[in-house]
Amino acid sequence: MASKIMLPVLDDRLLLIASMVREGAIPLDVGTDHAYVPIYLIKNKICKSAVASDINAKPLTKACENAQRFGVFEKISFRLGNGIADVHPEQCGVTDIIIAGMGGELIAEIIAKSDYTRIPGIRLILQPMSTVQELRGFLAEMGYATIEEKLCRAGDKYYTCIVAEYDGVRREVPPVRLVVGSVADDESDPLVNGFLEKTAAKMKRRIEGRRQGGLPVAREEEILREICELARARGYEIDTEAL
Ligand SMILES: C[S@@+](CC[C@H](N)C(=O)[O-])C[C@H]1O[C@@H](n2cnc3c(N)ncnc32)[C@H](O)[C@@H]1O
Repeated sequence: MASKIMLPVLDDRLLLIASMVREGAIPLDVGTDHAYVPIYLIKNKICKSAVASDINAKPLTKACENAQRFGVFEKISFRLGNGIADVHPEQCGVTDIIIAGMGGELIAEIIAKSDYTRIPGIRLILQPMSTVQELRGFLAEMGYATIEEKLCRAGDKYYTCIVAEYDGVRREVPPVRLVVGSVADDESDPLVNGFLEKTAAKMKRRIEGRRQGGLPVAREEEILREICELARARGYEIDTEAL
């Protein structure tokens, strides 16, 4: 009985994702795995119900077991399926779609295959583990407006969480913005300077790799310069020699 009143302990990445779900929303967590985010949202009374889906049966079983353990099994609809359309979000009136912990290209593929993501007002909460640049490019090109981007850090890794909504307007995004997103504009976030430095170091390694492979580096050098400028505008100097 005591176990039913427990709260799942979320790490900073999952907490950030959960914080971007709107109060009173009906979230769908695509690729839920452990289902900690929907469990947390219900236990904290941010949402009354949720949908948790996964393409694989094993993680979905784990999700069901966790929901039972935390006493919220009846409030979550569990669905086995690929992406969004397969799990019929319209049946539950889903308002917010979480796609987290996957590569940016896979996230883009899941979004592209679902007309539901193009309904006005449907919020996408996206947390790519890699190829973030490709995901930003996809969103801009396919008419999804980025509403908000936020950072979190686990160890020496930075994770980005993107909130987007479809408005049908295709946008041209400068290359540096595809790489760093809009987080550099957040003056109050203490993680931004470290994130910019880390991204600059990654860009420098990319430049060196391309140079060794005899590939052109002008675009990458320009992006590196612009990352340093964004940092400088925040009063933070990146020493590219020391990276
Ligand atoms: C690394 S886990 C991430 C779990 C959780 N979302 C998180 O951020 O911690 C990725 C999960 O996505 C599921 N998955 C991968 N591709 C999927 C797809 N096309 N549709 C639904 N689930 C998918 C996997 O089975 C796995 O459980």
